Amino acid sequence: MFDRTAVRRGPALPDFPWDSLADQAARARSHPDGLVDLSVGTPVDPVPQLLQDALGSVADQPGYPATHGTPQLRAAVVEGLRRRHGIDGLDEAAVLPTIGSKELVAWLPTLLGVGRGDIVAIPELAYPTYEVGARLAGAEVVRLADGEAPPAGTALVWLNSPSNPTGRVLDAEAMAASVEAARSVGAVVASDECYLALGWSADPVSVLHSSIHSGRIDGLLAVHSLSKSSSLAGYRAGFVTGDPGLVAGLLEVRKHAGMIVPRPVQAAITSAMADDVHVAEQRDRYFARRAVLLPALRAAGFTVRHSEAGLYLWATRSEGAWQTIDWLAERGILAAPGTFYGPAGAEFVRIALTASDERVAAAAVRLTS
Ligand SMILES: Cc1ncc(COP(=O)(O)O)c(C=O)c1O
Repeated sequence: MFDRTAVRRGPALPDFPWDSLADQAARARSHPDGLVDLSVGTPVDPVPQLLQDALGSVADQPGYPATHGTPQLRAAVVEGLRRRHGIDGLDEAAVLPTIGSKELVAWLPTLLGVGRGDIVAIPELAYPTYEVGARLAGAEVVRLADGEAPPAGTALVWLNSPSNPTGRVLDAEAMAASVEAARSVGAVVASDECYLALGWSADPVSVLHSSIHSGRIDGLLAVHSLSKSSSLAGYRAGFVTGDPGLVAGLLEVRKHAGMIVPRPVQAAITSAMADDVHVAEQRDRYFARRAVLLPALRAAGFTVRHSEAGLYLWATRSEGAWQTIDWLAERGILAAPGTFYGPAGAEFVRIALTASDERVAAAAVRLTS
């Protein structure tokens, strides 16, 4: 018989981690100079005017948009990836816009037909939605330590460079080795590249760069987001590209399932991928905030590991993550415990660069006084 209560509960998913920060958030909020929230990577800077204009420019189009995106969007993505990241030879038909990248991350195993009996391999420290997606599909999750090969039976391997939460960048050699290891068990590689434009002391490389795949992109997907590089988190703007056969399969299912990016957002994605100036400006803002927070954390006794790219500082005081979260909350600062990203984060906290200059300066004063 059908179990209606299971519908309400849904599949077995992890607890939503942010709910467990409520006490520390309340404590941090009671600081006389207010909360500095560095716990989530949500953009705070204005949406570039160019992108607001693009959004409004097609506000009066009553028809359904294409799931595949407009030809202009696909051309702008191919050209933008070539210009910004040196990715050559992409097929415009192999570009598919997504409603932000989180939905694609959560549904990719299902959309690919990965399911019960299959393994989804994720990094040892990982964005939680990789695990959620595997569980939604009924697949098993395996966390891979650095350089560890995926086991037989792995259907999908997630890479994430620059990494959330650690800011670690895989160099071309390490990424090529990961691709090779995934291929040797027949797995699809999904490379989550939402922080690719935010390299600080290392140069992140895309899985679609020729130095990684030597001309063979079969089995490779690159997942991109405009949330961070173009401050478009509110628009829900992303895309996936890579192996034309895989992308065609995703398109087919998404067409049937109504997973369509709204037409105004498609216009914003097109403009964003055609313009590098606003990306450079946004990069500069995050770079400046990093330059304030990094020395302040070190002066306060933190050790910062990796963090060579992306939007986070991965920091430790060589104590339990929740002890550090409490220590920060006393100073009105909210961060995320490393345990949100995997057991290996037990002594780390993740500190986001996504607060206003004024709030970041306030955090630095509190850390150093
Ligand atoms: C590693 C990683 N992937 C994907 C996402 C999802 O971003 P969005 O859905 O805004 O594109 C995030 C958001 O923080 C992330 O950190």
